[in-house]
Amino acid sequence: MSLTVNQIRTKFLKYMESKGHVVVPSASLVPENDATTLFTGSGMQPMVPYLLGQPHPLGVRITDSQKSFRSQDIEEVGDNRHTTFFEMLGNWSFGDYFKEEQIRWMWEFLIDELKLDPNNFYITCFAGNESLGVKRDTFSAELWQKLFAQKGIDAKVSDTPESGMKDGEKIFYYNEKKNWWSRSGVPANMPEGEPGGPDSEMFYDFDATGQQKIHETSAWKDVPCHVNCDCGRFLEIGNNVFMQYKKVAGGFEELPQMNVDHGSGLERYAAALRNDPDVFNIDVFDEPKKMIERLSGKVYGESTEVTYAYRVVLDHIRAAVFLIGDGVLPGNKDQMYFVRRLLRRAVRFARNLGVHDNFTREVGASFIQTYKVEYTLLEEKRQVILDELEKEEMKFRKTLENGIKEFEKIADKNISGVDAFNLLQSFGFPIELTEELAKERNITVDRVSFDEEKKKHSEESRTASAGKFKGGLGGDGEMEVKYHTATHLLHEVLRQVLGDHVLQKGSNITSERLRFDFSHGEKMTDEQKKQVEDIVNKVIADDLPVHREEVSYDEARARGAIGVFDAKYGDTVSIYTVGRETGTRGGANLFSLEFCGGPHVEHTGVLGTFKITKEEAVSAGVRRIKAILS
Ligand code: ALA
Repeated sequence: MSLTVNQIRTKFLKYMESKGHVVVPSASLVPENDATTLFTGSGMQPMVPYLLGQPHPLGVRITDSQKSFRSQDIEEVGDNRHTTFFEMLGNWSFGDYFKEEQIRWMWEFLIDELKLDPNNFYITCFAGNESLGVKRDTFSAELWQKLFAQKGIDAKVSDTPESGMKDGEKIFYYNEKKNWWSRSGVPANMPEGEPGGPDSEMFYDFDATGQQKIHETSAWKDVPCHVNCDCGRFLEIGNNVFMQYKKVAGGFEELPQMNVDHGSGLERYAAALRNDPDVFNIDVFDEPKKMIERLSGKVYGESTEVTYAYRVVLDHIRAAVFLIGDGVLPGNKDQMYFVRRLLRRAVRFARNLGVHDNFTREVGASFIQTYKVEYTLLEEKRQVILDELEKEEMKFRKTLENGIKEFEKIADKNISGVDAFNLLQSFGFPIELTEELAKERNITVDRVSFDEEKKKHSEESRTASAGKFKGGLGGDGEMEVKYHTATHLLHEVLRQVLGDHVLQKGSNITSERLRFDFSHGEKMTDEQKKQVEDIVNKVIADDLPVHREEVSYDEARARGAIGVFDAKYGDTVSIYTVGRETGTRGGANLFSLEFCGGPHVEHTGVLGTFKITKEEAVSAGVRRIKAILS
């Protein structure tokens, strides 16, 4: 039997306590006195003042397990490792110990205490960067090497991990793109006053024997595998940040103290100890899985679709339980909207599994049962949490019913592609739902003509936008390019604010304004419009770089690209990313990722101020926004 999540958490906190740390309770998922983010997304967030030098009332050695929620990962959930909610095990030195102690403790805890197989353990260190004035972290690399040697492992160090790993290599140097940590990513993107530093990350290999062929069967099979490859073979289980710098005008200044900021994924430790890359197989999901199995008659793992739906349901209900526990009720504003979105997606995906009766109360209660010893608040708020889950579930089922009524009107015969497309366009009814309902009634859906209809529609909007950019970019063209980038930002933000039913239905750009049509059933509230403007303007203020990449269609899909596309498998497509890093859509430093031929601005900062001038209906289920940049 592997250790349970609760046992691992306790072991970690006790271990750190034995090294002189004071155990503090997790801070709330809603940050206090920090307007920069909606949710607490890492263990260090509540510690920022102390990393900058303010004395912590409980001393210089602190440890905790911090509840974390990453809203940008909502749509990533479904693979074997993304969750929106997770716990980050952390320990901090506020100007006390430094690299030597931290690395030795990590080794002792993971290898000697948890008994993780050191043969499956890998390390990365900072390669150094002269222009930043930060040297290569040979100290950490050599210390890790010594620790491996104590277990009889001759750990070789590599300077060129991205060109592929060679036998015996265990420790890898990467530049600041991978081995530098700050809340805002790489050094160039850090605002003045932000703390950060080089880091040393710890990885677990889930395919040490090579038998599972995790890399070879992934979308990354054509590029060399290395520990930071996204194929899923290696999982980063923890990160030791040597936080000793503060960004100042023109570079970096040493902080008044040398800090350590360590954060590890509790669930990832649990997955590594099971030697199973699927984090949804850890014990906290056992009971909820059994419940869903009983209600749906479907077994986790029986097919790709079933597994995907299970993961969405499990992740989203757990996250909603913790968020409501921290006082965030489902609603339309700010943090509240995320709880609503989580629950709606959970209900929709449970429906895909065949769960048609209310179930969130029961599954929510099971999570409370599992977590109540560590998080007593959940038990205290049990009634509110369960009532809110059920209320929201019932409300959403009603919305679904309205869509179903429309479906009934056309379900007296087999459903044509056009009708199925209209259901999608006007009522946000995904094709899978139409197909599922049709199956129940023994009628068919013309999927081929649905796909054609969808493609036709995509081509129309694509032709429209391509036509706009023919003939050079002088004069007014520049303004059109800005509006084109702003359209991408708007598309992404509308999905964040209103939900992932929002899809582009049409786009038209002049040098004066953008016009964007999208699927959404209701008039947007003033608050929603304001929220959309605020987020777009925040992205502009952050001056995020915009990148174009040519990748295979499979890779673009694997990385979560959204937008208009009609490529065939194997085709090369062009994608645009907005963010400090490229990578997978929803990643911490990637704001958006869309299929697009361009052109775009190079940095969002040039766009000016974004303002919505009109929001109106175009047809049932389709809204139109006009917006200007000034
Ligand atoms: N703050 C570091 C992280 O979140 C440990 O990765």
